[in-house]
Amino acid sequence: MAFTQDELKQQVAKAAIEYVKSGIIGVGTGSTANYFIDELAKVKHKIEGAVASSEASANRLRKHGIEVFDLNSVNSMDIYVDGADEITEHMHMLKGGGGALTREKIVAAVAKTFICICDETKYVPVLGKFPLPVDVLPIAKSYVARELTKLGGQPQLRNFTTDNGNVILDVHGLVINDPIAMETTINQIVGVVTNGLFAKRPANILLLATHDGVKTIKK
Ligand code: A5P
Repeated sequence: MAFTQDELKQQVAKAAIEYVKSGIIGVGTGSTANYFIDELAKVKHKIEGAVASSEASANRLRKHGIEVFDLNSVNSMDIYVDGADEITEHMHMLKGGGGALTREKIVAAVAKTFICICDETKYVPVLGKFPLPVDVLPIAKSYVARELTKLGGQPQLRNFTTDNGNVILDVHGLVINDPIAMETTINQIVGVVTNGLFAKRPANILLLATHDGVKTIKK
């Protein structure tokens, strides 16, 4: 059966609700995460609340009457549920299309299980076709852009300010054969806050919406 991309996103968001048991839920950012928030609202009686990876997600959660906690007041979290721009069979992800990559990485770090929810267009053999977002302190943008060029990419400044007041360089043209090494190398450039490779801490569970149903892939 053929579904639209939005229908696939909705189906995978619904499937993720099975993993919502109790406590505080880590919630990501983007259109798939938005569908998840809408589904979470239907089971909000089961949970204490949520931690959001962006102001946009926090607002959507609050609109549904779900309490949003500051990450610093939360010691542990069972699950973090978020989309991705690309994901491989190794569960390495490229994220940050929505510009929320830094908070996403921080909230994900606290969670025991990262559940990635995607439609099948995001499942790729190699990361890098989607431009890699790099979150940069404004003072460092030109320096960091030069360093990223040395790594073989073509950085472009996004017309966007992050929730933390930083800028995003979208790096085109990278073929990322070793995502862990690339994540580490880019994070070591002075002025980089973080980059959109989520490889050192990959997803634990991938729920992948396909035209034949939602597939569960575990690491
Ligand atoms: C947000 O910063 C991103 O990391 C998102 O997770 C990613 O862009 C996926 O978004 P969609 O669900 O809208 O495709």
